[in-house]
Amino acid sequence: MLARRYSAQGILNYYKEQNLMNNQHVILVSRPTGWVTPENFQLVDADMPVPGNNQVLIRNQWLSLDPYMRGRISDAKSYAQGVNPGEVMVGGAVGEVVESNSPDFKPGDIVLAPTGWRLYGTINAKAVTKIDTSKVSPTAYLGILGMPGITAWTGLIDICQPKAGETVVVDAASGAVGGVVGQLAKHAGCRVVGIAGGAKKCQYVVDELGFDACIDHRSSNFAAELAAALPQGIDCLFENVGGEIFEQLLSHMNTFGRIALCGMVSESNRDAHAYRTIRAILVSRLRIQGFIVSDKLDTWPAIRKQLYDLVVADKLKFRESVAVGLGSAPQALVGMLKGENFGKQLVKLV
Ligand SMILES: NC(=O)c1ccc[n+]([C@@H]2O[C@H](COP(=O)([O-])OP(=O)(O)OC[C@H]3O[C@@H](n4cnc5c(N)ncnc54)[C@H](OP(=O)(O)O)[C@@H]3O)[C@@H](O)[C@H]2O)c1
Repeated sequence: MLARRYSAQGILNYYKEQNLMNNQHVILVSRPTGWVTPENFQLVDADMPVPGNNQVLIRNQWLSLDPYMRGRISDAKSYAQGVNPGEVMVGGAVGEVVESNSPDFKPGDIVLAPTGWRLYGTINAKAVTKIDTSKVSPTAYLGILGMPGITAWTGLIDICQPKAGETVVVDAASGAVGGVVGQLAKHAGCRVVGIAGGAKKCQYVVDELGFDACIDHRSSNFAAELAAALPQGIDCLFENVGGEIFEQLLSHMNTFGRIALCGMVSESNRDAHAYRTIRAILVSRLRIQGFIVSDKLDTWPAIRKQLYDLVVADKLKFRESVAVGLGSAPQALVGMLKGENFGKQLVKLV
């Protein structure tokens, strides 16, 4: 927005005049054991970084909070580099370029970048993506058009390969990934059953997102309600939750069913994984494929374009939960891991 009113140098001057050039970070101060708490993090003042060669300085506007973050602050073996105590918490963000030493970006550009939990950050231009916000909100690039939406596409379309008439089940169904999975499966002509926590989330999933049914995993009658919703069993399971819910879903899998093992959010705050699922996988000859969305970064632009077209055509809907202020990020992360978010969890900074 500022870009329309200010020249490139003017944006930097404007921020200086308005006394907006104050930086803060959220750092990890201790590793959680069991449940993560806000006390594992601290909000600290920080120097204003100066962009180096081919770097840009970004003023973050929105942070993305994602379940993978719990893994990053654990010292358990993982597929990605963890955060050590004393370091700034990692994460994706949307922000405005304030200063650029790259020919590819100019002040005023709205961009997506993994700058982490900070107000201002410098980053190599190669890690920055310019985003088109003329028809969709910038926050969509952290959810449906970002890593979660691309995860949904990859797991459902590439791994599960749903066919019309099949039954697709997804848990954490109202969330950033699950909501997209169910809508894409409906577009593919499938019967879609969601699992979500609470009546409101289930109502949203059916009424707004168009799922055929949704079962509340907190219901005391969960097992019977699940069985009633799955008269034809499950052909494609997009698994986000793990644990006991996954165990129950496995018993409904059809022979030669497919499982996209995407996440196990219910297990993330356990010190030891309690559930053993190998036998069911063997007996039903399932093909389960674990995957990490960043394995195939080259597929992202084409997938994002297809999601973008569906969003602009109003064929994909999404919902967001917004916490306000950098200092609210730790509590919002804890809340999301407990299911307090309703849709994509964001932190608004500006
Ligand atoms: N493999 C990959 O590359 C990849 C990439 C992105 C995300 N993921 C995974 O995808 C899953 C969904 O991520 P997201 O960003 O879309 O998060 P989200 O669904 O927006 O938020 C997390 C949700 O998990 C559910 N949940 C938490 N604890 C639970 C429990 N004990 N039992 C049942 N449900 C529980 C809650 O929903 P309810 O209130 O409905 O229970 C909560 O709202 C996560 O497992 C994440 O790790 C994997």
